[in-house]
Amino acid sequence: MKIHSLDYPIYIGTDVFDNLSSFIKEQNYSKLFALVDENTLTNCVPIIHEATDILVGCDIIEIPSGEQNKNIETCSTIWEELTKYGADRHSALLNIGGGVICDIGGFAAATFKRGMDFINIPTTLLAQVDASIGGKLGIDLQVIKNQIGLFSNPSGIFISTNFLKSLNNRQVLSGFAEIIKHGLISDEDYWDDIQDTDILKSKNLEPLISESIKIKKQIILADPYEKKGVKKSSEFRAHYWPCH
Ligand SMILES: NC(=O)c1ccc[n+]([C@@H]2O[C@H](COP(=O)([O-])OP(=O)(O)OC[C@H]3O[C@@H](n4cnc5c(N)ncnc54)[C@H](O)[C@@H]3O)[C@@H](O)[C@H]2O)c1
Repeated sequence: MKIHSLDYPIYIGTDVFDNLSSFIKEQNYSKLFALVDENTLTNCVPIIHEATDILVGCDIIEIPSGEQNKNIETCSTIWEELTKYGADRHSALLNIGGGVICDIGGFAAATFKRGMDFINIPTTLLAQVDASIGGKLGIDLQVIKNQIGLFSNPSGIFISTNFLKSLNNRQVLSGFAEIIKHGLISDEDYWDDIQDTDILKSKNLEPLISESIKIKKQIILADPYEKKGVKKSSEFRAHYWPCH
């Protein structure tokens, strides 16, 4: 189900892998690559394999998980692998992972040969409601987070809540914190829904994710390059949550 569109489609739901498969076939990419870390290789790639054959023949680039690896050295590894396996400007990179994979994979793709397509398949709750959306890409410089980067949009975002089953509680709560932030800054009804949700027990997070993406989309549309500080603005809160 296509739930939103910015300059690119965002899909969520039970048929998301059919949507992904059709989307990739339509794009007619010269070659397909997938970026994973050891956790998404083990937990998420099998879910995709079970649902679709898009990863058959796709070169998989594995990087070590964790923020400490969101750096230029890892990025060089990605560029080298893309080069080794013959990526060109008509290839695409599937970012299968959390915020780190979406950030560094997007950055590596957007700068490889002056830009190749990338598609986000976010696998943490945080990446599904926030990090995969908006085209903010980057890597850390020593201890400074996101010091190097650029804005470049993914070609599409494909979200499956099946990935969330292998997350630990800490990772789920980290994504929930972002959902709470979205509820607090912009929407009273959504805030009520959030308060009624037991995030660690809930069996259906799709409505919450979808609503959170809607709010994130409004923030992006109002301030795509984060020049106006919309997230912090009382004007934005007054518009989306008029009675507060
Ligand atoms: N670009 C943006 O707009 C934006 C917004 C918010 C955050 N971020 C970035 O996102 C990053 C944080 O993202 P995160 O919280 O997703 O962390 P993460 O990407 O480090 O993922 C957390 C851990 O979960 C593992 N993992 C991922 N999916 C899994 C799954 N389905 N099952 C089991 N394990 C899984 C990962 O391997 C990792 O060990 C930070 O680098 C932050 O700067 C970017």
